[in-house]
Amino acid sequence: MSQKKCQVVVLISGSGTNLQALIDAATRADAEFSIRAVVSNKPEAYGLTRATEADITAAVVNHKDYPDRDTFDRALIEEIDRHEPDLVVLAGFMRILTPEFVRHYGGRLLNIHPSLLPKYQGLHTHQRALDAGDSEHGVTVHFVTEELDGGPAIVQAVVPIEAGDTAEQLAKRVQVQEHVIYPLAVTWFAQGRLRMLEDRSELDGELLPRGGKQITG
Ligand code: GAR
Repeated sequence: MSQKKCQVVVLISGSGTNLQALIDAATRADAEFSIRAVVSNKPEAYGLTRATEADITAAVVNHKDYPDRDTFDRALIEEIDRHEPDLVVLAGFMRILTPEFVRHYGGRLLNIHPSLLPKYQGLHTHQRALDAGDSEHGVTVHFVTEELDGGPAIVQAVVPIEAGDTAEQLAKRVQVQEHVIYPLAVTWFAQGRLRMLEDRSELDGELLPRGGKQITG
């Protein structure tokens, strides 16, 4: 990977602010990775426009065009593999993936999830953190395994919950950190410093804590 830049395919379903943070990082002179293509399961996803504006190939594999999850995931694999990526990055890709898909990209598939995993897997994470009366919340980048939102954590940014916060305010505070830690994790991978072991991540040859490297936002 030191010979040529790490080739990344990004999967999205929506607005693509994380995609934008990755595009911005990839266009810096010293970038260690390059975005080969962006694939969305939704034709109306604004992230597709972001890709096109950055001269990146944008493709749609609409899950509604397929009779079931297996067939959709196989079509998705076919589209992704046309671009021969070293790494596949889920950036707000809101589909549950089949074990076949996850195994196909084992150890080179990353996701970002808006909570301090293992807390609040699934949806509505900001409201759930508020309802629980937590004093802090955050976001995790992790390797994807067959367990939903459950693979080895890489990096986690912690943000404070302030009195009177709404879910929207909290989401905004968390998103600022999302845009910091996702390019960071992708860069570590591109530099060949990051590896998925059985149930933990390794950075620079050292086991990371179960929650990943902690960053305070
Ligand atoms: C992000 O907040 C990301 O953490 C979340 O979707 C949002 C996508 O925003 N991902 C998940 O909830 C995955 N379980 P974006 O399209 O603006 O990057």
